[in-house]
Amino acid sequence: MILLGIESSCDETSIAVVEDGRRVLSVETLSQIEIHKVYGGVVPEIASRKHLETIAGLAEEAIRNAGITKKDLTAIACTNRPGLIGALLTGLSFAKGAAYALGIPLVTVNHIAGHIAAAYLAFPELKPPFTALSVSGGNTFFIRVADYCDMTVLGSTRDDAAGEAFDKVARVLNIPYPGGKEIDRLAKLGREQYGVEECMRRFPLPRPVFEEAPYDTSFSGLKTAVINKIHTAEQKGEEIEREVLAASFCEAVADMLVSRFEYAVKSEKSKTFVVGGGVAANSRLRERLEASAKKYGVTLYMPPLSVCGDNAAMIAAQGYYDLLAGKTVGLDENAYANLEYLSERNGKI
Ligand code: KG4
Repeated sequence: MILLGIESSCDETSIAVVEDGRRVLSVETLSQIEIHKVYGGVVPEIASRKHLETIAGLAEEAIRNAGITKKDLTAIACTNRPGLIGALLTGLSFAKGAAYALGIPLVTVNHIAGHIAAAYLAFPELKPPFTALSVSGGNTFFIRVADYCDMTVLGSTRDDAAGEAFDKVARVLNIPYPGGKEIDRLAKLGREQYGVEECMRRFPLPRPVFEEAPYDTSFSGLKTAVINKIHTAEQKGEEIEREVLAASFCEAVADMLVSRFEYAVKSEKSKTFVVGGGVAANSRLRERLEASAKKYGVTLYMPPLSVCGDNAAMIAAQGYYDLLAGKTVGLDENAYANLEYLSERNGKI
């Protein structure tokens, strides 16, 4: 089965051709970062317009580079939730048109499930059940993956996503959007120069926990604490030690996520854990998760950096399993900015 994957939930237009959910034949991704950079973040209306301009050309290119023709496609898989509504609708409308024109089925994929499915592309042996962390610019979710299409949210962020906190802290440090990668680089320098304990001592930061909801996270307070420290230093005319601050911030984010990972290891039956999403590229988070997984005898699947960020191959991977499960949709299918339905579906995404 050959699926055309479509991803347009935020600021990447991406089209991929994937065989049997595991083998990537082509993936074409056009990032809009340079366009949004001048505004310090993604401007939804601009994102939608750029998706519209590029999506058809990218699809042609992806099909050509896969060495197939449109007639070889079995189905179309498209992200329809969660994300920027206009951006999602652009991809979904294109997907509907293509599926109708080619007379093939359409499946719609949850973006968060897509980030988890990125691991299917990188690790052929990986199969559910497992526990997963999907952590990106827009979402931070701990998820029980009982089967390919049976996913239950264990907890999520109550405010900012982890990546959002990275980007907002970066903005105050005059680092261009998206700042996660640069904060990661600065933090490495801070750790190398002073050691992590000293960085945390110089910039102590909060790590909120919710006893009644152990998987839930909150990154807004952490972000505000960092921003307040930067502003206080500015008001006093003091030089901020960016590397030290970045190292302390990365450690706090890693602590918050690793503590939930360890809770999952103790409370979930599975000894397999998958991490996906843009923030999964963070070097300190990767190091800390690897160390913890080793300590608890957990098999940890962290896809390479190349598939951590938004891409359509992961959407086609999840879409393949949705198709096998018969989850095709009609041309009346809609897009959804968030997952408001979770409580109605007992947390099933
Ligand atoms: O998954 P992604 O490409 O898009 C969303 O679905 O949101 O994730 C983008 C996010 C941005 O917030 C970016 O700053 C963050 O991932 N990011 C990182 C790193 N690389 C990207 N955050 C921390 N450390 C990194 N190395």
